[in-house]
Amino acid sequence: LPVPATTLTIFGVTGDLAHRKLLPALYNLAHEGALPERFNLVGVARREMPTDEFRAVAKAAIEKFSRRPPDATVLEGLLGRMHYVGFSFDDVPSYGRLSATLDQLDEDGGGKLNRNYYLSTAPEYFPVIVGALKEAGLNYDPDVDIRCIIEKPFGTDLESALSLQQVVDHVFREQQVYRIDHYLGKETVQNVMAFRFANFMFEPVWNRNYIESIQITAAEDIGIGSRAGYYDKSGALRDLVQNHMLQLLTLVCMEPPGTFEADKVRDEKVKVLQAITPPTPEEVRRDTVRAQYTAGVEGGEEVAGYLGTDGVPDDSRTETYAALRLEVHNWRWAGVPIFLRTGKRLARKVTEIAVQLKPVPHLAFQSHGSVGVKPNQLVLTMQPNEGVSLSLGAKIPGSSMRIRPVNMEFNYGSAFMSQSPEAYERLILDAMRGEATLFTRSDEVIAQWSIIDPILKAWAEDTEPLHTYASGSGGPTAADDLIAPHRWRGL
Ligand code: BG6
Repeated sequence: LPVPATTLTIFGVTGDLAHRKLLPALYNLAHEGALPERFNLVGVARREMPTDEFRAVAKAAIEKFSRRPPDATVLEGLLGRMHYVGFSFDDVPSYGRLSATLDQLDEDGGGKLNRNYYLSTAPEYFPVIVGALKEAGLNYDPDVDIRCIIEKPFGTDLESALSLQQVVDHVFREQQVYRIDHYLGKETVQNVMAFRFANFMFEPVWNRNYIESIQITAAEDIGIGSRAGYYDKSGALRDLVQNHMLQLLTLVCMEPPGTFEADKVRDEKVKVLQAITPPTPEEVRRDTVRAQYTAGVEGGEEVAGYLGTDGVPDDSRTETYAALRLEVHNWRWAGVPIFLRTGKRLARKVTEIAVQLKPVPHLAFQSHGSVGVKPNQLVLTMQPNEGVSLSLGAKIPGSSMRIRPVNMEFNYGSAFMSQSPEAYERLILDAMRGEATLFTRSDEVIAQWSIIDPILKAWAEDTEPLHTYASGSGGPTAADDLIAPHRWRGL
């Protein structure tokens, strides 16, 4: 798809996400010649500053965070296309200044450009900005495409997600809205669909007849850093499970779409989420574990626990770890437990999906002293060692029929030799070209919250002490009980 001439407006352009991810992603797109010839960036943030100063700030961010050392000419070219307008997001009259800037850029370029608004602010401003864009008449233009890209989190529970959606519905049509889940921009996450739907051999076994269980892990070794203000109100369930982990789950469990069009793919994903029954309080007690990290080790250094972190209240009950068991109630998956776990300050960073196949129905070799026969396990690793690995039983060389597990591996790095684009590069480009497959649709985000909301409510009412785990460990032992008689993969 060609990328049409576009002015991208980033609200919250002085924030952390813009600095670490969005500006460097734009640089990389420029470096690859992927931006349209007529492209402008308008940065918006509260602080007043002249455009020159903003360009210097953007330059420093790109130099620090780009995945390649910037080329001076490309960088100067991109900076020259950046502009800045400073105002408070709730100051509706100031949107007139933004409007004037956008009009001027249209005029300078000799015609109207598409307009993309990227909301990368604190989430409480999402409805404010969306409402103000309408008041300023910036949400509609019959001649060009107007799009609104909304960062996560889309709501903090079911009710707030529904009310944000209501505001958005007043201002934009669904086709104009691009809700970000950066996991969908990751090559390895998209590869789950390639793996399933471009290969014939896995489909016949991809169901309850052959698969015993699935476990999805998003483990991080880092703590919450300086994000206490955000994280303590969020916790692991909202921060990673509602969005990223449920996305991984839907990609593993969805039916093959008829075509790879945005709505066909998303229809299938929504069906999976809707087949997960929201848990009752009793099921939450049985099927979920939440825990908080205590003192231990991070990156070889002794570190304090979550409660000792600046900005975290001494009596915080926010979970830094969550594990749950879910089930997709349909013909393909009924009876197959799907285990999710995520946590900060675990032994290592790894995001993976492990599909555990059932044992063979009869093992003929037993009488030959066969040892170590294990059911096949297929592991799709999103990061850091991107690839796919299938464990197989193989004969140990020698005169007797002894078996042990070996791995058949596909490794991204060695198969493709090229550096993968960052998730945000793909997502910004897709939004500009109106390609919505890798964005979360409104019914999808509401279906996600419908699963998570009862867990949040049951946890809020639960007065039992939280489980704990030492920083740098594999997580709380309660999570081992949750998954038994299965076992978590080692961290
Ligand atoms: C973000 C969460 O959405 O995802 C962070 O807010 C988390 O807490 C991050 O660290 C993980 O993303 P990635 O791409 O490093 O796996």
